[in-house]
Amino acid sequence: MKHFTSVNDIENLDELLLLAKQIKSNPFGNKALGKNKTIGLLFFNPSLRTRLSTQKAATNLGMNTIVMNLNNDGWSLEFEDGAIMNSNKAEHVKEAAQVISQYCDIIAIRSFPSLTDKTKDEEEQVLNSFKKYASVPVISLESATEHPLQAVADILTISEFKTKKKPKVVLSWAPHPKALPHAVPNSFAKMMQLADVDFVITHPKGYELNPEIIGKSKIVHNQDEAFKDADFIYAKNWSNYNEYGQILSQDPLWTITSDKMKLTNSAKFMHCLPVRRNQIVSDEVLDSETSIVIQQANNRTYAAQAILTQILENENN
Ligand code: CP
Repeated sequence: MKHFTSVNDIENLDELLLLAKQIKSNPFGNKALGKNKTIGLLFFNPSLRTRLSTQKAATNLGMNTIVMNLNNDGWSLEFEDGAIMNSNKAEHVKEAAQVISQYCDIIAIRSFPSLTDKTKDEEEQVLNSFKKYASVPVISLESATEHPLQAVADILTISEFKTKKKPKVVLSWAPHPKALPHAVPNSFAKMMQLADVDFVITHPKGYELNPEIIGKSKIVHNQDEAFKDADFIYAKNWSNYNEYGQILSQDPLWTITSDKMKLTNSAKFMHCLPVRRNQIVSDEVLDSETSIVIQQANNRTYAAQAILTQILENENN
């Protein structure tokens, strides 16, 4: 693996999961791999889990980490080719990416979408500019359209908690007061298409995700029907994709409650976090034994460490 910016970059999911489980059972067993290597974690947006778990994963591998909040602490970057830089953009990504490549052996980037310009968001200008101009591997810490490290942690968690070979996994839209990106549901859907699961997406009519990503995944618009026999409920809000970035529904009937969970096969509740209590999910569900969100967040470290291991081993070959 050279870059890791999409679930599509996974070469063999079974091998990746095995590696993540081996790392989880012995997180400091490969400390020599990252010796004298540096990872730069560049954040254009806030983060708790991604920032800390990736830093921890790198440290577990013996790497040095440099973390920078680019929007607050860096020069404002220009991404347009041929730009006349006479406004507030002080540095072009062409120089920035090449310079950072001299300090870092891996560059990891978080850059959210605007949710106002679908075409531009789908171009992934920030991530792809770094891929183009950096001379080292690039990892996504959540981009406009994908959150692949989250998806690796998600499938690792499902593989640990499943009680049958092919569990039923339901991705459920849930209400939220702010417009949220599609990156998490996109990467989760891609991951479920790779995994041996019975995958169902449920959302209000009109909340269809990008059809190129959803492919042939089953969609059920009746949430109660979708929850029947489910082994995992993965809740997530996303803003409208067709009326791009709009909030067309905040229907509280889609909040995940204990009554909804009773429709399932004693399903485990999952969410990538941060989660809005009593909007996305009731306190009762989140505070119950059925919720595995804390274990899921713990797996962010081992997912990141498995990906870093594969990239570092590839660089050594
Ligand atoms: N799930 C996730 O990416 O969390 P953060 O936004 O806190 O990093």
